[in-house]
Amino acid sequence: MEKTNIFGVVLAGGIGSRMGNVEKPKQFMEIGGKPIIVHTVEKFVINAQFEKIIVLSPRQWIRYTRDIMEKYIAMKDRIDVIEGGATRNETIMNAIRHIEEQYGLDEETIIVTHDSVRPFVTHRILEDNIRLARAAGACDTVIPASDTIVESADHARITNIPERSKMYQGQTPQSFRAKKLRDAYESLTQEEKNILTDACKILILKGEDVRLAEGEVFNIKITYPHDLRVAESLLGGEKTC
Ligand code: CTP
Repeated sequence: MEKTNIFGVVLAGGIGSRMGNVEKPKQFMEIGGKPIIVHTVEKFVINAQFEKIIVLSPRQWIRYTRDIMEKYIAMKDRIDVIEGGATRNETIMNAIRHIEEQYGLDEETIIVTHDSVRPFVTHRILEDNIRLARAAGACDTVIPASDTIVESADHARITNIPERSKMYQGQTPQSFRAKKLRDAYESLTQEEKNILTDACKILILKGEDVRLAEGEVFNIKITYPHDLRVAESLLGGEKTC
């Protein structure tokens, strides 16, 4: 396959603590008869724009992740399964390091980073991310906020109610020129690294442009047990509205 310099980065390095006491991390739980992460990776492998898809998993689940890729994904040679990091951003940095070592990294190398637990990402969203990351250097996938956002600094009283028309809910993918993201991350202090949970915010802190890509209401993140039921009904094509 021709070199494209575009890599899919599927983030599965978490343990899914909010899912409760389950035997395996949520990305390996099944919906529609196969693991959630398989639904997600399928969306990437069918897109020929990706040179490779890097899947990052907790160390003790790497073998398991390779096994399920082998079992379910026909084009499994398009996938590298490697170890994730201690935080979500460290997981992304592991992916960038791997790309640099195995395939080379230059200013134009693009990564499309995506939560393994958002199996309903669409071809259109992936294409928009690639286009915007190429054009502007970074983008975040969002939907307009449907509820009013209320801010509370002390978790007891309201400190701000921002104008809803300017509010969005962040989803993934988040896509970047990989080198630029890594350079910005490496310039942060350890304290800044510890509090930063969002990859786009790394660039925002540095005053860089991050464009908006249009998400979908159904591009949900499976976080709590209830989300599994919603995901099953989305797969079943049931009317949820
Ligand atoms: N993730 C990752 N590496 C980490 C932490 C999270 O790749 N060190 C991934 C998760 O596997 C998930 C995505 O980031 O696909 C979104 O994170 P979240 O929903 O918060 O997942 P978990 O950290 O697994 O869940 P929880 O916060 O409930 O423990």
